[in-house]
Amino acid sequence: MNYSALTHRLQDLGGAKWEIHRLARQMKATGADVIELTIGQPDVPCPPELIVRTTAAMENGRTGYSNGRGEADALAALAAHYTARRGHAFGPENFITLPGTQTALFAALSTLAGPGDEVIVADPMYATYEGLIAATGAKLVPVALRPETGFRLQATDVAAHITPKSRVLFLNSPHNPTGAVLRTDEIAALGALAIQHDLWILSDEVYEDLVFDGVRFASPLDLPELLPRTVVTSSISKSHAAPGFRSGWCIGSAEFCTMMLPLSETMLFGSQPFIAEMTAHAIAAGSPVARGMAARFARRADLIHGRLHGHAGLAVHRPEAGMFALLDIRCTGMSGEAFARALLAQSAVATMPGESFGKGLAGWLRLSLTQPDAAIETACTRIKAFVSQKQGTAA
Ligand SMILES: Cc1ncc(COP(=O)(O)O)c(C=O)c1O
Repeated sequence: MNYSALTHRLQDLGGAKWEIHRLARQMKATGADVIELTIGQPDVPCPPELIVRTTAAMENGRTGYSNGRGEADALAALAAHYTARRGHAFGPENFITLPGTQTALFAALSTLAGPGDEVIVADPMYATYEGLIAATGAKLVPVALRPETGFRLQATDVAAHITPKSRVLFLNSPHNPTGAVLRTDEIAALGALAIQHDLWILSDEVYEDLVFDGVRFASPLDLPELLPRTVVTSSISKSHAAPGFRSGWCIGSAEFCTMMLPLSETMLFGSQPFIAEMTAHAIAAGSPVARGMAARFARRADLIHGRLHGHAGLAVHRPEAGMFALLDIRCTGMSGEAFARALLAQSAVATMPGESFGKGLAGWLRLSLTQPDAAIETACTRIKAFVSQKQGTAA
């Protein structure tokens, strides 16, 4: 049978990147003592209040059809929240609610780019970005992030990749997998390029609330001159430890939201009113779990750094935000993929190969910080023993 060009473009861009995670789950199912440092699942359950609000809303009859833009209570809560945070007035006309950041990114990119366009994105990048861009038919133009600039995307590096076909500058701060947080001056320099070359800025800010102490989050939405060309996506998945609710949104100009509306209607014909009611509460009340998560993830990144950095040539990159640390295993001469497979098979520690996030992270591993401290300690001990055994030295 024949399948669409889109389906073909997406083959090999989905599940293959999560193969180690799949294998780890398989091993666990057979009783193996696997430490899972693969995915970014929050380390606490969602606040009980979100469940109470959702079920109450369902019991109160908010189970009917909605509309493609979103329910009034969620849109109003988002408008008040972003007005307070970003320092300019946003209204309901600046938002469309969608099921999670992932769907919001899909809808936004599909609104901004298509075949023949180029989308500039940092490499490494979150594992679904390749598929998101491929789905639109646009060409992915990777810009290498450099450890010496803290893996933060630099305007000078982007400038070298701009062509007449460039259409979207796709940002992600705090960044997955590096945990880098763009500074205001870096965003301003990237924004100046966007203005000069008439690019859209698409900014994935799903980790905004997981910035570690001492680091300040900044957004292109902070800068008035970038408002007409900026689209931000986010959700309650990370901030409220609530990924399963699938509650996210896009923020953009009123014109952008109007242009995207038919796509939202075509895809979903409206999100769930009971999720909207819970989201309105979650956004207005703020997160009771985000600061605790950020503190634990920062502490665990320090723990990994203390245990592994400098051991037998390993290096640890400490994040500024988010749920992951990076381990540079190039001293072993193995690829991230080969190392992660062997580490899982021999030492029952599941990690994400850097290659799953782009060429820029070949020879690295991404380690999730969402496991308890004791499990992270044990994982470090196993990784040290594994590396020592590979190199024929004592652990
Ligand atoms: C950078 C990044 N963007 C988007 C997502 C998807 O988030 P959501 O659960 O809101 O769809 C994730 C999930 O891990 C992520 O790491």
